[in-house]
Parts: sequence; structure tokens; C-alpha cells
Amino acid sequence: MESSAPAQPTAKKRILTGDRPTGKLHLGHYVGSMENRLRLQDEYECFFIIADLHTLTTKPEREFIAALGDNIHEMVLDYLAAGIDPQKSAIFLQSGVIETYELNLLFEMLVTVARLERIPSLKDMARAANLEESMPYGLLGYPVLQAADILLPRAHLVPVGKDNESHIEVTREIARRFNNLYGEVFPIPDVLIGDVPSLIGTDGQAKMSKSLNNAIFLSDDENAVNQKVRGMFTDPNRVRADIPGRVEGNPVFIYHDAFNPNTAEVDDLKERYLKGAVGDVEVKRKLATAINNFLAPIREKRAYYEAHPGMVDDIIADGTARARVEAAKTMALVRDAMGMYRIPERV
Ligand code: TRP
Repeated sequence: MESSAPAQPTAKKRILTGDRPTGKLHLGHYVGSMENRLRLQDEYECFFIIADLHTLTTKPEREFIAALGDNIHEMVLDYLAAGIDPQKSAIFLQSGVIETYELNLLFEMLVTVARLERIPSLKDMARAANLEESMPYGLLGYPVLQAADILLPRAHLVPVGKDNESHIEVTREIARRFNNLYGEVFPIPDVLIGDVPSLIGTDGQAKMSKSLNNAIFLSDDENAVNQKVRGMFTDPNRVRADIPGRVEGNPVFIYHDAFNPNTAEVDDLKERYLKGAVGDVEVKRKLATAINNFLAPIREKRAYYEAHPGMVDDIIADGTARARVEAAKTMALVRDAMGMYRIPERV
């Protein structure tokens, strides 16, 4: 495959963001963060991290580690299918950038335990993993590791979902603290939250998530989408089509707003829904069509990469090499700024 190095060195600002490799991406990922990544891919030099080390914070067991390879492939296929261009952006494996471990340790000195203990999302993660009473040191350090990821390429902007906002705040604090102690090495990165910061699941009960079985995946085929949309939660009080319904907060209309580019159609459906002049069936049929249209080009690109399985690993290898170059530069700056003792070279 062709080299993914940019033709010319760029002075663009940088983005670092990414995901834990938990498998396929869904529509929630798309509107939460992917959309921003795609939009900013030309304006920024982008680094997309496959955060395999972060998965260890709640799942250190061998069986989970063994599943990472497949999950990484599925996720990178989704990145590429959605439109991340490996010629422009680096897609890299966190555990392959060993400077991550190094910067993580140095950052551990710059944040207090009490600060980390106050982060609600960490408590949520611990609870979800049944680790509430036995919080691993590494899970408490989740946002510190994330700070190392973001600051290794000295990124300026971090497009993430709402659930990661509090972590980026920790990154900003660590960057400020480092700069105060040792001199200006790091930009203070900004967070960027997507248009739909937290997309509701098809069940209408909770945020879209693979584990809750309420997700529509980027890789779902037409049939799967039709079926999932048909089973979607709508206004529970509307037992007949001629009863006026609620549009606000109704999952089918949240999805119409997010995925149906035909705003005239959406407005018309909403108007009739409010009056009790349209059935759920029609609203859902049009939604399924809109989502399938939205996913069609994504499916096509995914099929291409699936047919060329070696490409994904090549892309990750190239991206990781690129990330390492930047990481090494940053670590040299960090060591210099800190004035760490260096053993003189022997001649
Ligand atoms: N915490 C992110 C998640 O929820 C993954 C992640 C790891 C990340 N390092 C990052 C996101 C750095 C943005 C920037 O899956």
C-alpha cells in the first residue's frame, strides 16, 4: 500500500481522539464524535488512537485481551468505512506507542487521588464493571493515561462524546500543571462535543450502547436496520395513529433530526404526528429509509476494506509509526524541560 505520510510537513494544529476497541461502532459514536472527526480531517493533522490499554482498566483478563484483535479490526473497518482517510490521518495502536507508558507515569505525579476520585464517569465505569468495592489503581488513572495519549502528539483539540468531557478537563489541568512546573511544553487542548452529545438507544431508555442491545451499528445491513427501526420505542401514550403524539424527546424524531437530510419530510411528519395525522409505521418506514441511505456509502467502503484484509494492519502499522515519531519528539522536550538527570555517555 501507499505510504500514509503526508506529502509535505504541515503546520496544522492537531487533533487526538479515539476509542477503546470494544467492537463495532454505532450511530451514537457517529453523531457523538465521528462526524466532528470527519469534518475536521483536512483542517487538522489527526491522530486516532485505538485505546487498547484503556480496556485493561476494567478488563485485564486474558480472554478479553484475546478478543482485542477482532475488536480492533472491526473498529478500524468502521473508521475507514465512515470516511477516515489513512492517507491524511494516523490511526494507531496505543500499546504500540511505548512513550505512552512513560508519559503516563510522569503525569501521575501531577494530579491528586482526590481529584480523580471526584470524577463521576469513573465511578460509573467501576460500577458497570463490578469494581466499585475494588477500584483498580489503573482505573482511577484512566484519565491520566488519556492525558498522556492527548499530550504525546501535543494535540490542540479533542473531539469526543459527552461522557469523556470530564476526562479532557483532567488533561487540561495536567498540561497546565506541567507547564507551570517545567515550562511551556504542552498546548492546553480544547474539547469538542458532537451535535448529539449522547444519542438515545432504540429502546428509548438509555444512551445507545452495544451492551444494552439498543444500538444500530454502522455495519448493520438494510434488513437489520429495518427491523431495529420497526421495533423502536416511540411515544408510549400513542396507542392509535389518530392520537396526537409527542415529538420532543421521541427517539424516532431524534433520529430523523440526526440522520434524515430531508428536513421538509421531517417537518411534515412532525406536524402530522403532533396532530395525530400520521401512523408510527410511516414515520418509521421513512426513518429506516433515511438511515439506510445514510449507511449505504459506509457499507460500500466497509466491503472494500473487508475484501482487502491486509490493508487494515498496514494502516495501523503506518499510523503507529507516525504517532511514535511525534511521541519521541515530545518525550525529548519533556525530559529536557524537567531536567531529569541523565547518565553521562561512556566513551
Ligand atoms: N476514553 C475514550 C473512550 O471512552 C478512549 C480514549 C482513550 C480517548 N484515549 C483517548 C479519547 C484520548 C480521546 C482522547 O473510549
